[in-house]
Amino acid sequence: MKKKHQLLFLPLFLLFFCISANSQDLVNSIKPGQIWPDNQGKHINAHGGGILYYNNTYYWFGESRLPKTEKDKSNYGVSCYSSKDLLNWKNEGLALRVINDTASLLLPGCVIERPKVIFNKKTGKFVMWFHHELKGQGYKAAMTGVAISDNITGPYKYIRSLRPNAGVWPKNFPEEFKKAKEGEESLKSWSKEWVEAVKEGLFVRRDFEGGQMARDMTLYVEKNGKAYHVHSSEENMTLHFSELADDYLDFTETYVRVLPGDSNEAPAIFFAKGKYYMFTSGTTGWKPNPGRLAVAPKLLGEWKTVGNPCRGTEDENKITFGSQSTHILPVEGKKNAFIYMGDRWIPDNLADSRHIWLPIEWEDGLPVIKWYKGWDITNLK
Ligand code: GAL
Repeated sequence: MKKKHQLLFLPLFLLFFCISANSQDLVNSIKPGQIWPDNQGKHINAHGGGILYYNNTYYWFGESRLPKTEKDKSNYGVSCYSSKDLLNWKNEGLALRVINDTASLLLPGCVIERPKVIFNKKTGKFVMWFHHELKGQGYKAAMTGVAISDNITGPYKYIRSLRPNAGVWPKNFPEEFKKAKEGEESLKSWSKEWVEAVKEGLFVRRDFEGGQMARDMTLYVEKNGKAYHVHSSEENMTLHFSELADDYLDFTETYVRVLPGDSNEAPAIFFAKGKYYMFTSGTTGWKPNPGRLAVAPKLLGEWKTVGNPCRGTEDENKITFGSQSTHILPVEGKKNAFIYMGDRWIPDNLADSRHIWLPIEWEDGLPVIKWYKGWDITNLK
């Protein structure tokens, strides 16, 4: 009798096991701040990233951070994941990896942050730009790197890193800003006079010959194919919007300063309802701070700040729901559906940093974000 029961339960148990294993494997809603397993069950290691939609597929590029336990720094670079539904992501491996060659600036141990990939219709190539800091120099180099590939998932071939716009003044830089004022180099950082001097181009002048600093960055492609490299410059005090050449591999001589002296980082730009919107953060390193929103009629300006886009409790708004913006993703096939993508950094183990994806909602004509513990992408309008 006992044996008979056991025999009966075995298939039932197996059936239950299969069903629960399957439903666990599939991701069916966005759960901000939770572990987000990829097709191999590992947390998606694509941080400070962005998404490119190509051939009916979303490709997510981001910082592939070394797990805390991993010592081999050569297994590092930019990761790529693909998905049709934005929920279930296949690990496509490293799209760009560091180069084990002392002659290369992309040596293991360098810093690769906030990578973004765009497709160039004219050349048929995929172009990746990323914030690049050199090995052993902390965040001093403030460069941007570029790499290219025939295939979206890579491998991307590293071309070079540079500081943009050497020897070129911004388009919106008044004549009188081009000359240094006496004693300006010795002004005390963060004094009123110093902030004023920064607004009036102190660091643009300082870096005129060597090129402008480029840290937190994003890319934006206009409908007509013109692409722009947007980055925190001037010691993170001012954003620079720089036009890219037709092949997207270099800068033209056109760039503008945006929100001078306002200390914006983590730019993420989108176009909706006839206007350009930009999410940014303040500059507190890995620690989250109050999110910021700016709006402009044209990509190159005039940008106006319109406050904090978060609609949560006071404590949540102060830290942007524990996140820092990285990209605003237009959802394909829907007119005004966008997703805010942010990072909840875990500085002690960056690979474990969490993805904070929230739907963009509209309030009084402005894009806002609210907290959801879990939400369904199919509900996006
Ligand atoms: C943040 C920046 C990150 C990373 C970090 C390092 O402000 O947004 O991308 O550079 O600083 O402290």
